[in-house]
Amino acid sequence: MFLKNNWYVAGFREELTTKPLARTLLGEPVVMFRTESGEVAALEDRCCHRNLPLSHGKVEGNALSCGYHGMVYNTAGQCIRVPGQDVIPTGACVMHFPLVEKDGLLWIWMGDADAARTQAIPDYPFHSDPRWAHKGNHYTINCHYELIHDNLIDLSHVGYVHGKTIGGTPGAHSEAQMSTERRDDGVTVRRFMPGTIPPPTYLRAMNFTGNIDRWMEIRFVPGLIRIYIGVNDAGQGFDEKTQMDKMGMRIFNGVTPETENTTHYFWTAAHNFRVTEPEVTNNFHSEIAATFEEDRTVVEAQQKRFEQFPGRKNVHIKTDAGGIHARRVMAQLMETEKTREGQAGVATRVPQTA
Ligand code: FES
Ligand SMILES: [Fe+2]
Repeated sequence: MFLKNNWYVAGFREELTTKPLARTLLGEPVVMFRTESGEVAALEDRCCHRNLPLSHGKVEGNALSCGYHGMVYNTAGQCIRVPGQDVIPTGACVMHFPLVEKDGLLWIWMGDADAARTQAIPDYPFHSDPRWAHKGNHYTINCHYELIHDNLIDLSHVGYVHGKTIGGTPGAHSEAQMSTERRDDGVTVRRFMPGTIPPPTYLRAMNFTGNIDRWMEIRFVPGLIRIYIGVNDAGQGFDEKTQMDKMGMRIFNGVTPETENTTHYFWTAAHNFRVTEPEVTNNFHSEIAATFEEDRTVVEAQQKRFEQFPGRKNVHIKTDAGGIHARRVMAQLMETEKTREGQAGVATRVPQTA
């Protein structure tokens, strides 16, 4: 079950060219493409003639032609040409999904297209602010998306899972000063770790000679977890005005269900130090990539056990507060969506003849 009326990350802007890109999102096969005039579009990846995936076809001008018998679809999914005949058959169309480029990302709406509001797409200025440099990647993770939510919202695991990179000193992470702000549409967890030992990744990037103060803010909304991190020499404080710490990091985590038990993970790591040195950005990216591989091992192993023991109860501990609230938010929003669908008496998405 998925929350459909929500903006999800479908990819990075640079991934989309006039070569069709196939991706399964929320269990639906989707083809995305860029027209020759630069517009982006997403359609159901299935020709309405004989079901060949439209991703086998090619972009022609501002439309997509099927790779089997050449039917041509516009960006709204309407068939606009059938080779060898003048008449377009009734109902010759496929579903289309609103797709928007913003902050270097492709955002897709898989629910009721009439309810899609582009103003609701979350902001992420760190991909274009020159005070920050970033690099990212896309992984497919073999687990349910909520295991990734849990992992990113509860960073008390950092000391245990990421000892070689951003972790070490497990006690400092478990004992961080923590607050959880619960909202109807999300949750924000704040963590502060004063006077702790700098972990290996930080020492490789910056010359900390003594202990450090670390703050972290983890902002969850469905489909996205933004992690903001600031590090300063212990006792130096934080500049509220510039929001620029000695070592500032911003981690973007687009979490988009692929299927019920696989998840697209679109991430970037941005830093505010030595931003004009590509080598530093590459190294920082590699360090974060290594930590995410450690997380992948954990969540994929958990997934196997959840499948093996579906009825077994799990206990909760204090640091689960944010993750539990995120689950409540998802459950509540899905429930509301289901009720509305039921009241409307129709499936939210059916192909529309233009
Ligand atoms: S299957 Fe697409 S045109 Fe025939
Ligand atoms: Fe992690």
